[in-house]
Order: sequence, then structure tokens, then C-alpha cells
Amino acid sequence: MNRRRRIYEGKGKILYEGPEPGTLIQFFKDDATAFNKKKHDVVDGKGVLNNRISEYIFTHLNRIGIPTHFIRRVNMREQLIKEVEIIPLEVVVRNVAAGSLSKRLGIEEGTVLPRSIIEFYYKADALDDPMVSEEHVTAFGWASPQEIDDIMALAIRVNDFLTGLFLGVGIQLIDFKIECGRLFEGEMMRIIVADEISPDSCRLWDTTTNEKLDKDVYRRDLGNLVEAYQEVARRLGIMNENEPLRPTGPVLVK
Ligand code: TMP
Ligand code: ASP
Repeated sequence: MNRRRRIYEGKGKILYEGPEPGTLIQFFKDDATAFNKKKHDVVDGKGVLNNRISEYIFTHLNRIGIPTHFIRRVNMREQLIKEVEIIPLEVVVRNVAAGSLSKRLGIEEGTVLPRSIIEFYYKADALDDPMVSEEHVTAFGWASPQEIDDIMALAIRVNDFLTGLFLGVGIQLIDFKIECGRLFEGEMMRIIVADEISPDSCRLWDTTTNEKLDKDVYRRDLGNLVEAYQEVARRLGIMNENEPLRPTGPVLVK
């Protein structure tokens, strides 16, 4: 099992060679990091929760015609995905001011933005993922103008879907990050949503109490991260409260 080839290891996930060409296995680690790994802990059960929540979101995106790399979940910590060429950008969509936007522009957290705002960050840990403009993206060849259009259209569709999904379970989607990749199918190439969408990559606030149900719980030491993620999973109806986050005996691999 561990002899399979490791393709890539990031802060939160590992990619292994998949069972057939053009596929990969995405493994969710329990590592929680923030501020580019200046803060780092192992949080028991986080990987299992993110695997399940991301599976749920990507399955629905696929179903409504928003293309993603997700094929199926393989077990508690792994999913089968399509291999893509990752575009080295973090694409952030914001509906409400928070985090780095509030800090940079002095806008109070919780202020509803006049419209959804899309930002690009260049994926480069050594540089702390700096914000970049479309000019940088095209000048340095990270994506073409047409690809930027496709990425922005995908980001808006994902935002519309996620906003409604979470609102239905009493959660306000403040902002989130996606990554996109190029999927090559014969002569054709298209841009699809890759990576993960989970409470690690979103800001999720309870609509009535504004309680944070996302990675800010960890970044800002606000409480128990696993309990917050479990609450998101419970509200989405994807994990029952008594389900163990660790296998307790022989595990049925679905
Ligand atoms: P920010 O306010 O820190 O720029 O974050 C905006 C959104 O992007 C927030 O939902 C968290 C997410 N995000 C990531 O998923 N990965 C990252 O490395 C960063 C900085 C933010
Ligand atoms: N994911 C980034 C890190 O590991 C930053 C963050 O999410 O705050 O440092």
C-alpha cells in the first residue's frame, strides 16, 4: 500500500500515483498549518473531515455541470482524482470583508462587499503567496487571458453554488479559495476546479451568531477545530455525530 509512488506532498495533502493513467490519489493529512507553516499542528481527524466535506462539495459541483478533478472518494482519507496541470494561482472569492482584505484595506471584518471580488495569489511558499494582478498572471505566462476568463467564470459559479448551499444550513460564506487546473482530453484542454474545498479553504460563519466554523478557529486560537468542522459536516448532513474519525476496527473500504 505504501509502495505506491508519491507524486507531490503539500502542507495538507499528498498526491500518489493513481490506479490508471491520468488519475491520482489525493490523501488528506491531519496537519493544520497557518501563516505559511509558521503555525503547525497535527489535528486528529481533520483530514477525514476535509475529505468528506470536499467530496460532498465536488460531487455537487460535478452534478450541476461545474467541472472538477474529483472522481470518487476511496476511503476515509483518500479520493481518486483526475490528473491536471495545476495553474499556480490561488483564486480567492470574497463576499464579505475578512482576513487579509480587512487588514490590507482597513475594512471592518463582516462588512458586506458591494459585489463579489476575485483576487489572485501566486502560489509560491518561499514568497508567502503574494497577491498578483491579471497583468502579472499573463505577463509571466501563468495563465492566458482566455484562461483567466474561464477561471473567473468558474469561480463565480462556485461562489453562487456554495453561497446557496451554506445559506441553506445556516452558514454565511464569507470568502473561499479555489485552485484550477488544465485537464487534457485528447486534443482538447479545459480548465477545471482542482485541489479541495473545505473549511480549510473557506470562511464560514454561523448566520445567527457569527460563530466561525472554519480554519480561523485554528489561525486565531478560537476553540476546537475538529468540533467546528464536524458541525459543518453535520449541518450538511454528511457525517453523523457518532461516526468515529478514526477506524475503530476492521474498516469497510467503500
Ligand atoms: P485571506 O483573507 O487570508 O487572504 O484568505 C482568503 C480566503 O482564502 C480564506 O477563505 C482562506 C483562504 N486561504 C487558503 O485557502 N489558503 C491560503 O493559503 C490563504 C492565505 C487563504
Ligand atoms: N494555508 C496557508 C498555510 O499553511 C495559510 C493559511 O491558510 O492561513 O500557511
